[in-house]
Amino acid sequence: MRSAAQAPIGVFDSGIGGLSVLQALQAELPHERFVYLADSAHAPYGERGDAFVAERTHAIADYLVTHHLIKALVVACNTATAAAIHEARLRYPHMPLVGVEPALKPAVSHSQTRHIGVIGTHGTLGSDKFANLLATVQDQAQFVIQPCRGLANAIELSTAQAPAADKTQTEVHRLCVQYTQAMGTFGKSPGQIDTLVLGCTHYVFAAADLQHILGPDVTLISTGEPVARQTRRLLEAASLMASAPQNHSEAQEYKHTQLLTSGSLTALQAAALRWLQMPAQACAEAVALR
Ligand code: DGL
Repeated sequence: MRSAAQAPIGVFDSGIGGLSVLQALQAELPHERFVYLADSAHAPYGERGDAFVAERTHAIADYLVTHHLIKALVVACNTATAAAIHEARLRYPHMPLVGVEPALKPAVSHSQTRHIGVIGTHGTLGSDKFANLLATVQDQAQFVIQPCRGLANAIELSTAQAPAADKTQTEVHRLCVQYTQAMGTFGKSPGQIDTLVLGCTHYVFAAADLQHILGPDVTLISTGEPVARQTRRLLEAASLMASAPQNHSEAQEYKHTQLLTSGSLTALQAAALRWLQMPAQACAEAVALR
């Protein structure tokens, strides 16, 4: 019989954004199995309001616990973390639960100009959780906060299409230009923003566009790796780390990452192939999640 430590880790997002966190988790925790759920039928979360996002978060957590017997949950979505992680911890007090939030503290440590940009969804950047986080660092740098309506959705839609020959003609590129221009000037001279926090897991997939627009002097900060390290710490503390496979067939089974979606299976397959180089067979099923 399988021990609790051999159970999978659940990971979810409103769509494909959390694949950027899954990638970091797979690298940090190579012996673990993962079940990733993209709630694409209900994306984007960032423009839906807290009550809706909290309801989705609890429905997904309950589904992963009941149907996939997960041993831990990573909420790979800043918006869902802001709206629901507190209550999720109360609902599952014994399960290791990790959320993501904009990496303001790492940005403060990194910035030389002390001018830091933060982009995210309306839900995240308008939340009390974000206001509290900002209050802890506000005296250490100047922050320019920019909600990016429509950007997560444009990234979500873009992966379903073939990569554009001319990147600058895409909706993702257009929105990245529009929002970063609204923030002020970027660069490493005094008064310029030299560090940009990607406060939405989808935005990692627009990092190449953003870097191209802002130039090489600007550092983009995301959260996948710290989240993966925190997941490891919680698993270790709970003695829930999966052991290395003993033989080849076990290795085949445990390496498996299952991808589920409440939306289009072909869109998730395309995203997984494009961003994680995962074959289509890894996307096991489309789930009808109410
Ligand atoms: N990827 C999500 C986040 O980190 C949510 C994007 C959305 O659905 O609006 O906030």
